Formats: sequence, structure tokens, C-alpha cells
Amino acid sequence: MSDEKKPKAKPTGPIPAGYAGVDGELAIGGQKVSALAEQAGDTPLFVYSRDLLAQRVADLRSAMPERLAIHYAMKGNPFPPLLEYMNGLVDGFDLASGGEMELALAAGVDPAHMSFAGPGKRDRELEAAIAKGVTLNLESEGEAARAIAIAERLGKTPKLAVRVNPSFDLKGSGMKMGGGAKQFGVDAERVPALIKEIVAAGADWRGLHIYAGSQALKAESIIEMQAATLALAAEIADKAGATPPKVNLGGGFGIPYFPGDEAFDLNAVGGALGQAFSALPDVIADTDFCIELGRYLVGEAGVYLTRIVDRKVSHGEIFLITDGGLHHQLAASGNFGTVIRRNYPAAIATKFDDAPTEVASIVGCLCTPLDMLSNSAHFPRADVGDLVAIFCAGAYGASASPANFLGQGAAIEMLV
Ligand SMILES: Cc1ncc(COP(=O)(O)O)c(C=O)c1O
Repeated sequence: MSDEKKPKAKPTGPIPAGYAGVDGELAIGGQKVSALAEQAGDTPLFVYSRDLLAQRVADLRSAMPERLAIHYAMKGNPFPPLLEYMNGLVDGFDLASGGEMELALAAGVDPAHMSFAGPGKRDRELEAAIAKGVTLNLESEGEAARAIAIAERLGKTPKLAVRVNPSFDLKGSGMKMGGGAKQFGVDAERVPALIKEIVAAGADWRGLHIYAGSQALKAESIIEMQAATLALAAEIADKAGATPPKVNLGGGFGIPYFPGDEAFDLNAVGGALGQAFSALPDVIADTDFCIELGRYLVGEAGVYLTRIVDRKVSHGEIFLITDGGLHHQLAASGNFGTVIRRNYPAAIATKFDDAPTEVASIVGCLCTPLDMLSNSAHFPRADVGDLVAIFCAGAYGASASPANFLGQGAAIEMLV
């Protein structure tokens, strides 16, 4: 008799809305996954859906006050065709490097609609942004001095906003970007003096950028953060004696990745912001506002498809071994900023409508136990040749994973 115990099934995260089976297979943008893989010519691949991207932006616009501009934080997904598509949907792009600026320019984004945040901007990045007329979200007094000197040398008026390190953070956020000592932004109490210097230097002061965190799933936390952000913007403007032309209220809108996660109430956030906008202090009453979102706009619109190349049993446990892995989907493997590994939403894409019959682990092809895409979850029986879908792969997938690890190389990407 075997002393091997059957593994206990672990739950997976919720499959995002908008995905359905056609003839028993997962379809994305109306096309079956087997057809998409054939079109791509190889696996693994990321598939991003235009319909789901457009739907997300439309939902956001209908919930948020009209006055709020929507910016795409392109660090979420810089795939060129997706950038071009997003350029037709959003009002601005948030960049985090000179490389992202090049990609945004190539995608046809107007530099007047770009803002560039991020610590450690090199002189050549500052120069390129100033030359193109991109707004710099300054991360320090030192960066401000370098930008002003570079602009003088170029004979340009730089567009400068100040990124504020707020004294609060985004509660329940997966990634806190404010509250205490941080490498991001200028401590709030020093911002008024910096604004005065920027204005005195003859620069075009564009306003404030206040980013307190990412991946929040509670409407109350986002509402509280936005209220605190507006209050801080008003306080800084008062002390600087100047109305900011624009305030970037940050973002932080999260998506459900894990078992038990639920989407936050977008209408509640939009309603509260609308109310806050109707009662703004005088000093920011004429200010323009925007938010910058990455994963909320693109995360759920993407699926990672990888093919099963082996099926094996070890000590009673079933392993479905795929041609993909953490080198494309680091986040789903649990190695991108999560403390406890939990399962992303996953499915056997070629048997999407089949009932689960077994507990199996979906792993990648790398020789490390970290390369786990789904740990001991319920799936229909899958065999060599079947395609696996990992959902919530539209953000921080292809570009945030170590594609060259073990000589594997990048996955194919498609916008459908
Ligand atoms: C300044 C800034 N903007 C936007 C984002 C995008 O975050 P998310 O993809 O969670 O919306 C981040 C994430 O770290 C960020 O640091």
C-alpha cells in the first residue's frame, strides 16, 4: 500500500469577466486559443484583447467624474501595438524611463501628453524629455537643479512638476509608495520651497504628482487616499502661494489576482471623487486632475498561453509541465513582490468548459522549484499538447519577467 498522500487542492484566483468558451475552448477576442497559437506559430504567447481594454476604459470613464483625465502607466505593458491602441483610449501616458519615452513616441503618443516619473533619471533622459516637451515629475531637489541646468543649455523652457512623498500611504496596498522615508518624490514639507525655486528659474511649473501606492482592492482605502491627496495638494499650493495647473492623484486601483480577492466598487470611488471635486478648496478649484493606472487598465485584458509538453506523476502528485514559466510570468510564480505564494487564476484553455476531475500542479520548464504557475489546483484532465491559460497576464508579465533566464527567450505577444 502506498503511503503517499493525495495533495490537498489549493484554490485559484477568480477568472476575470469577459472570458468564455467556444466549442469547449477558451476564446479571446472571439478566437479560440488553438487558433491563436497556430496564428502565432509557436507557444508560449501573451494574448491581449482590444475589446477588454476598450471596455475597461469605458467603464472607468462612466464611473469617474468627467473632469478626471485617465493616464496609462505604461510600465504595466509596453507592447508597441498595445501602446498604439491605448493611445486612442486614454488622455495621457506615464513613463518611467527614457526607453519608455522612445516606445511611447514610436507609438504616436504626443509628448505633450506624457509625464515622466521615476528616481534616478540620467542626464541624457532628462535632456531627451526636455527637448521633446515631456513633463518631468521631479523626484528630488537635485534632479530639479539638473533639469533646470540642462534646459538652460538647450535654450528650452522645461515642463516641471514635483513628485511629492506624502506622509500617508494607500491602506491595504500591495506596494506602498508613501508614508515615511522613501526614494520617491520630495518630502511634502519641502515641496513649497522647491516650487518657488522652479518658478523663479523661469520653468513651466506643471503641478504635483502624488503617488501613494498600488494594487488596492478596497474602495474605502482609495477614497481615503484620494481625499488625503487633494488635501495635501491644497496645503502645498497654499504654502507655495501658487495654483498647480495639474495634480496627478496617483492611482492604486487593484485587480483581483488571488482566491478571495474581489474587485473594488468603482462607482463608489467615482462618486466620492465627484463629491470631492464639487467642494475643492479655492487654491485648487481651477486645477486639472488625472490618475495614472497600469494594471487596472491592462491586467485583466491579457492571458498567457503555454503548452503542456509533459505530464508526470511524482509521489502521487500530478505535474503538468509546460513550455513556459516564470521567465514570462514571474508574478504568477509568486516571485514578484508577494510574501506568500498563492495561485493566479488558471485554466486548461483547450478544455475550458470541462469539469475539474483531478488535482494537478502546472509548472514551467525551468530547473528551479520556483517555476510554479499553479500549485495543486483542480483542473480537468490535461495531456501533452493541451494549452494552459494563466489569466491577469496583461500587466507586469512579458516586460517584468526574466525572459533570458536559462536561455529561454521572450514569449510571443499578440493584440487581438
Ligand atoms: C509612479 C507609479 N505610477 C504608476 C504605477 C502603476 O501601478 P499599477 O500598475 O498598480 O496601476 C506605479 C507602480 O509601481 C508607480 O510607481
